Amino acid sequence: QKEILVDNFGRRVNYVRLSVTDRCDFRCVYCMSESMTFLPKESILSLEEIGRIAKVFSELGVEKVRLTGGEPLVRRDVMQVIDYIGGLGLKDFAMTTNGSQLPRFAKDLKASGLKRLNISLDSLNPEKFKRITRTGSLQQVLDGIDAAINAGFKGIKLNAVIMKGRNEDEVLDLVEFARHKKIDISFIEEMPLGVVSDHERGETYCSSDEVRKIITSRYSIKPVSSTTAGPSRYYQMPDSAIRLGFISPHSHNFCGDCNRVRVTVEGRLLLCLGNEHSIDLRPYLRNPSPKGQPHNDQPLKQAIIDSMAIKPERHHFTNDGEVQVVRMMNMTGG
Ligand code: GTP
Ligand code: 5AD
Ligand code: SF4
Repeated sequence: QKEILVDNFGRRVNYVRLSVTDRCDFRCVYCMSESMTFLPKESILSLEEIGRIAKVFSELGVEKVRLTGGEPLVRRDVMQVIDYIGGLGLKDFAMTTNGSQLPRFAKDLKASGLKRLNISLDSLNPEKFKRITRTGSLQQVLDGIDAAINAGFKGIKLNAVIMKGRNEDEVLDLVEFARHKKIDISFIEEMPLGVVSDHERGETYCSSDEVRKIITSRYSIKPVSSTTAGPSRYYQMPDSAIRLGFISPHSHNFCGDCNRVRVTVEGRLLLCLGNEHSIDLRPYLRNPSPKGQPHNDQPLKQAIIDSMAIKPERHHFTNDGEVQVVRMMNMTGG
């Protein structure tokens, strides 16, 4: 009988997002500022510690682990922890990636037991892609998507953050692309995490309703029920098996169904994306174990169970660009 995690609002936590690095080879305008200082090596968790956290969560009834970043695949030797978590026998094991390193990693990821990949793709136009990601290359990501398909991944989903004046004119092209590749796509409302230098978030806000309006100018879509226990609300078109997801933190709050917590690469267990409520897991990871003995995971487990009491009810993001959370997205993993 596994223990389970339940918060004070009766929500069962069965999903954990583990950030494996704050670093990234891209500098997406909604996520980072142009010049970034990243964490020094000594303040990040080791791959072993990240694996231990995943294992303890799985013993607490968590059935779904998603690796995030930054960009997970830029962390040196990251396959070690991916292989380890792949062996834990989770119901779902997924990663969110910008796709740039997939040509190199897709096959190994498939072999590790990773089940699903969410790949960010905000534009299909090389110049616009560059303007949004600053340092990214569209071709590399397109090659990455093909590499993932060729490696046999079935659960691939594209993520597109839609911004007015940036890429809202590409919504139909992105739908076309997803239909052509036969993979799902989610459209995301931008969230105000951290101060970004590039734009006023309030000015670029594009609601999911507006995105849906653009889509229904060409396709008829109808709602279908979700299967991933994520925040996306899904729709389908009559002539395609793919699903269109809408992640609408502003226009359709989904906190009531929240089933997740996050761990930053500094070892902070974050109880909510949009709040600072957190506990530091490091003291429970760095307790020395007697020579040759396995770690005693009980204190870590108990700390996680106790943390449920401070999981906030909801985020209070607004779409006027006001920043309530100073933590940047690359420190949080989305
Ligand atoms: P699946 O449903 O498992 O496919 O994943 P997902 O869509 O939840 O994960 P992904 O990492 O692809 O994130 C897509 C978007 O959803 C990102 O913008 C995340 O920041 C956002 N997101 C994920 N979880 C939450 C959440 O609990 N609250 C809010 N506000 N946004 C979230
Ligand atoms: N608002 C919404 N989504 C964001 N992402 C990164 N920053 C933001 C933000 N400020 C997305 C990325 C990726 C996922 C992890 O989160 O595009 O798809
Ligand atoms: Fe990197 Fe993802 Fe942030 Fe873009 S959104 S800078 S790809 S971590």
